[in-house]
Amino acid sequence: MESPFKPEILKGKVALLTGGASGIGFEISTQFGKHGASIAVMGRRKTVVDSAVSSLQSLGIPAVGFAGDVRKQEDAKRVIESTVKHFGKLDILVNSAAGNFLVSPEDLSPNGFKTVMDIDSVGTFTMCHEAINYLKKGGPGRSSDDSGGIILNISATLHYTATWYQIHVAAAKAAVDAITRNLALEWGTDYDIRVNGIAPGPIGDTAGVRKLGPAEIKSGTREIMPLFKLGEKWDIAVAAVYLASDAGKFVNGTTLVVDGGQWLSGPRH
Ligand code: HXC
Repeated sequence: MESPFKPEILKGKVALLTGGASGIGFEISTQFGKHGASIAVMGRRKTVVDSAVSSLQSLGIPAVGFAGDVRKQEDAKRVIESTVKHFGKLDILVNSAAGNFLVSPEDLSPNGFKTVMDIDSVGTFTMCHEAINYLKKGGPGRSSDDSGGIILNISATLHYTATWYQIHVAAAKAAVDAITRNLALEWGTDYDIRVNGIAPGPIGDTAGVRKLGPAEIKSGTREIMPLFKLGEKWDIAVAAVYLASDAGKFVNGTTLVVDGGQWLSGPRH
């Protein structure tokens, strides 16, 4: 779908996206690139990262990729430093790496719980922590009239109520939302950095929906949830473009729900 935004609204920006080589993260990489940004993608699988970079480059988008795991602080540091070395600065950090599987609490080992917390919550904090020096106003590569950079954390709506077989992810995303708010307060005040989140609903053609909900989605859910329909990766990506652009310059500390109204809907009485 054609973008409603001008193609240059992210011109001159450098964005690093964890999980940026696949799924929703890759669509954000693509839309950021189409709106003028240079893109660095980070992912665990080198082949997936390489193929994402080729796809971006074939669209004329300046792109580079680095294999790395957000659970490793040394990887976070290396990838951020490599991004700045390659493009000269860092303006936008998108934390979209996530782990997920369906399991009941009694069958989930504490290590399974910890694994998802480590990827989603600790990984998000680690990336922010390692990037702060580059994102803050006046940081390396930033011109003196630049404001601080931008952080976008990809969350979910699972924890707004409660979600079957998702105790680990719900806990992890609740922590991500807390990170978003606390960094927005402290780094907004001290460093002129805006920190926001996006909570996608069920998005077609993603690992989340393939793994988590095909039965419910295919079986008449629309009847009991009047606003419910599958979103597209594009819906999340253009929301990210909005938040990362100057159109969102007064938005700080919010997690924008992009779910067609799904989380607040229930059975019709
Ligand atoms: C139960 C599981 C499990 C499963 C792993 N574990 N998979 N437990 N059911 N299906 C447990 C393991 O038993 C182990 O605990 C611990 O988790 C670590 O497992 P590893 O396989 O060693 O971990 P690792 O190789 O690091 O992989 C982590 C992973 C990850 C979380 C499983 O590979 C993964 O999920 N990748 C998919 C990424 C993905 O789907 N992203 C999209 C996210 S969608 P023990 O105790 O045995 O040592 C999303 C949307 C949310 O986030 C909102 C939706 C609406």
